[in-house]
Amino acid sequence: MSSSNRPEAYFAPCPRGLEALLAQELRSFGALAPVVTAGGVGFSGNRETCYRANLWSRIASRVLWRVGEFEYRTEDDIYAAARALNWFELFDVNRTLRVYVTAQKSPVKSLEFVTLRVKDAVCDRFRDDVGRRPNVERADPDVRVHVFLEEKRGALYLDTSGEALFKRGWRMDAVEAPLRENLAAGIVMLSGWKPEQPLLDPMCGGATILCEAAAMARGRAPGLKRAFGFERLDGFNAGLWKQLREEASRPAQSMPKLALYGSDSDATALNVARRNLGAAGVERWVTLEASDILSRKAPAGSGVMIANPPYGERIGESEELARFYPKLGDALKKNFSGWNCYFFTADRRMEKLIRLQTSRRTPLYNGPIECRLYEFRVVAGSHRG
Ligand SMILES: C[S@@+](CC[C@H](N)C(=O)[O-])C[C@H]1O[C@@H](n2cnc3c(N)ncnc32)[C@H](O)[C@@H]1O
Repeated sequence: MSSSNRPEAYFAPCPRGLEALLAQELRSFGALAPVVTAGGVGFSGNRETCYRANLWSRIASRVLWRVGEFEYRTEDDIYAAARALNWFELFDVNRTLRVYVTAQKSPVKSLEFVTLRVKDAVCDRFRDDVGRRPNVERADPDVRVHVFLEEKRGALYLDTSGEALFKRGWRMDAVEAPLRENLAAGIVMLSGWKPEQPLLDPMCGGATILCEAAAMARGRAPGLKRAFGFERLDGFNAGLWKQLREEASRPAQSMPKLALYGSDSDATALNVARRNLGAAGVERWVTLEASDILSRKAPAGSGVMIANPPYGERIGESEELARFYPKLGDALKKNFSGWNCYFFTADRRMEKLIRLQTSRRTPLYNGPIECRLYEFRVVAGSHRG
């Protein structure tokens, strides 16, 4: 990155529906003028803001640094714009490279072809300037160049994150359909759960929601256990980075005692949950048990329940779920009066079939899948009958 500390332009993508939360987070890291768009937040910030966002954001998927903007009509225009950048001032020729292209309403015919052309442009420019070109690496590149194309305009970004930020470095094993960590963190934030309150995920799978809630409540920086793309760019400020990491490693002062609970009807999922919680270093705050949500009792008189039931993608699951929702409504009414219950699902039938009053529904995307976070405040008499 450039050695000066002047503000640069960034774009942080995130799961759709969490943009406003991300803008709020980014402001707290020093971001200026955050602009919310579908799927992310543009902002201006200095290098410290960029490092802080990578280390601390629970919501962003990446932090992309904008290094070029252009207008184009053809693939050749994109090539020329990419070749015009002083790449050798941005990263060393010995770094490996990969180019990613995404587009919205772009007239180009093949994104693969644009990917190749931009890769050629970067390599040709390196050859002109230093006589050699960087190697391409698909699996684990040192440097990721992102190209974003709109109808007539495009932008070139360097990825300051490297691996996506939802990879926190603690996941040991995955259950079927685990939530991405940043989506889980966003769901916990949207629920308004406070660390003083009991929190239960009664369909916890690999315990993503519980890991994120515990890390959040303990003030743990989500990026403390991993490396970042900016460490491999020129102008990396190792002193500043060390200082920010030290600051994030300091044990938090007084912390509320956490009461987190997880359960699942599947013993294999519980084993995965146990391993993930252990790797995240938060297992001491979480009580796990094998039980069916339809029969388990509430661990406290009131609290917050957050669950992510299966969506019904497997054969036969859809009918099974349609029979499950009314039973779930009955079980919540019987065992969870006094609890605020949140269900994150792509299955829109749930709201009707559960036969409880929905107090809030928030549209959220799990990748390309449109989902809802439903809120049911379970009080005696909340049953619709
Ligand atoms: C989509 S997965 C949850 C994934 C989890 N949020 C994660 O990130 O790993 C749904 C989970 O619900 C569990 N489940 C399904 N029916 C259940 C029931 N009746 N009671 C408790 N758990 C159930 C499944 O075993 C599965 O682990």
